[in-house]
Amino acid sequence: MATKDINTADSAFETRTIDQIVDVIATSAPEIRTGLPGRRVASEAENPSGETQMAADVFADELLCDRLGALDGVGEYASEERPESIDVGTGSLSVAVDPLDGSSNLKPNNTMGTIFAVYDAPLPARGHDIIAAGYVLYGPVMTMIIARGGTVDEFVIYDDASYELVREDITLPDDASVYGFGGRVPNWTEEFEAFARDIESDPSRKLRYGGSMIGDVNQILTYGGIFSYPALESAPEGKLRVQFEGYPIGYVLETAGGASSDGTKSLLDVDKPDLHARTPLHIGNASLISKLESALD
Ligand code: F6P
Repeated sequence: MATKDINTADSAFETRTIDQIVDVIATSAPEIRTGLPGRRVASEAENPSGETQMAADVFADELLCDRLGALDGVGEYASEERPESIDVGTGSLSVAVDPLDGSSNLKPNNTMGTIFAVYDAPLPARGHDIIAAGYVLYGPVMTMIIARGGTVDEFVIYDDASYELVREDITLPDDASVYGFGGRVPNWTEEFEAFARDIESDPSRKLRYGGSMIGDVNQILTYGGIFSYPALESAPEGKLRVQFEGYPIGYVLETAGGASSDGTKSLLDVDKPDLHARTPLHIGNASLISKLESALD
């Protein structure tokens, strides 16, 4: 299970580069959001995981690649939308991005996010190579969660690309009051289904599932609880990607005092050397993640 074993920047140069990356993510978010209305249609291509790309996925990826790639400290850029990572300079840090997480929510106009992870290693990297991670949530308000330097902060991003710190040193509430589980129920393993029934039998907990990981994860960070996209009978590796979703979200949740797991160990300990590898993903309060790992054992 997850213990707090969080790697952070170890030089002024890394710290400055992380700040610049965060600034690019924040100042690009209003443009990504403004670019959505005309891009709620499928592009002609598929992403490396075989999923239909929306025009907005491609737009956000190109914009972030250009801007993050222009930073001196960034040497490599990879995204869920590209088969390979690309060399963008001589910097020592790598950035992995999911430009529009949950883009199937574009058509019904539900929440989506942009996720990023900064690794001080070439890609594909290990979970413990992350030195900062975070996400933008395109909800009724644009917010940004950033884990760096051992703490998690929340910002509001405005339409003019300015942003403001609104919550400092966020920790997961002890009261675990919401849960959300992805995948089709008949496709869950017997053990996971039994665990889910146990979780939902507690009358103090409410189901919250929106179909965009960032929206669902942010519910947990706000109210406490558990979110899982588990291993499925038809997909034992689950759906979510290690480099673009598993490591960054594990890093954010563990920095906030919560826990993460692939079913047996912290997401940060998952060791899969493929850039587009997938993992079952569980995040939330440590007590629930521990219960989950016992249930799946
Ligand atoms: O990245 C994939 C994603 O869109 C996640 O944001 C989300 O949690 C999941 O897929 C939703 O999958 P499903 O459509 O199977 O519920």
